[in-house]
Amino acid sequence: MTGIQARPLADLRARRTSIKWHRFPADVLPMSVAEMDFEIAPPIAQTAIDHLLRSDTGYLDSPGPLAAAFAEFALTAWAWQVDESRVHLATDVTVGVLETLRLALPNQGGRVVLTPPVYAPFYEMVGEAHAEAIDVPLRAEVDWSLDLPAIEAAFASGVDAILLCNPHNPTGRSHRRESLEGLARLAARYDVLVVSDEVHAPLAHPGSPFVPFGVIAHETGARSVTVTSASKGWNLAALKCAVAVANDEATAELLARFPEELAARTSIIGLHANIAAFSCQAWLNDTIDHITDNYRLLVHELSIHLPEVRVVQPDAGYLVWLDLRALGLGDDPAAELLTRARVALNSGPSFGTGGRGFARMNIACDPATIGEAVRRIAAVAHPEASEQRVPAELEPAPAL
Ligand SMILES: Cc1ncc(COP(=O)(O)O)c(C=O)c1O
Repeated sequence: MTGIQARPLADLRARRTSIKWHRFPADVLPMSVAEMDFEIAPPIAQTAIDHLLRSDTGYLDSPGPLAAAFAEFALTAWAWQVDESRVHLATDVTVGVLETLRLALPNQGGRVVLTPPVYAPFYEMVGEAHAEAIDVPLRAEVDWSLDLPAIEAAFASGVDAILLCNPHNPTGRSHRRESLEGLARLAARYDVLVVSDEVHAPLAHPGSPFVPFGVIAHETGARSVTVTSASKGWNLAALKCAVAVANDEATAELLARFPEELAARTSIIGLHANIAAFSCQAWLNDTIDHITDNYRLLVHELSIHLPEVRVVQPDAGYLVWLDLRALGLGDDPAAELLTRARVALNSGPSFGTGGRGFARMNIACDPATIGEAVRRIAAVAHPEASEQRVPAELEPAPAL
């Protein structure tokens, strides 16, 4: 076990004011919204407090020391050499992606490839950029990898950009180097901009190396922008600060045209918190260990109580994509389970094509919550059998 611990559920509900804790009644286990139930790293909290106490609460006009802090993290974690002069600020990852699309696409009628099932707000971002989403589903029944021949067909039909999610949400899979190389070659050949959202990358699990698109793009000559933040890895979504990195000369010119106001729309406290986060490696390692322990626990509990559920093993992050089709709960098992099991998961179909019969579970929580969630789901799926299935040697889940 690691030093990272989640507070009891009642405590979290009393102390936190975010959607995760207030969207559902108190008898629901909240395992949907992508926030972690752990305390943030103390040096990050202290940094934010220090800046508040100094009334350092004005506007930003550039990434300043964040560019170097991010570049150092990227080099150490992924051997990615980031050109600090090409690092730009954005309010958050979503805004960074949206502003990049706004610059890169025609005013109306742009076309952007998405690879569903995928983080549902991507569809909103494409819509806000007045563009059309072109679906090229992942190879769901194989290994959830990119379908390169289908991507090529979409590129050949004329698209402006592809919005890559790497590591992918909801599957948690990091795209393999060969896939990324294939994509980069296609992007270069058809002159398609790759916008790579890499916000889950700092949470790569041991033995599942993550390859930044920036490294690949550099080798192939594809145009690309990477958008990322400490917001997921260190649980700082509220602090509103992200970086957009231009990976080549052409996109450096593109991002130079970001609205001047974009830096001022980014939180100065968030910037200092991001800088602190990128040197909180020990906390990150402990958090990843806790998540991977939780993943093993989930697999164990499922194997006992719900052996027909198939789990996609994530390479990074704390979101787990569950194939619940064998449970007979219909196209949207999360909707059924919210009502009948009082467990809140994300609806599979909300991620687009390939999501029917699936749900996404957030496991950045106390291990007891995972055990309890599996038992509640099993009680719905197997009302008579669930009690007898608990083997004698297993401890009952601690009270929640
Ligand atoms: C793939 C992906 N991108 C972006 C975000 C949101 O990031 P931000 O809060 O920095 O906009 C999330 C949140 O879960 C996400 O999963």
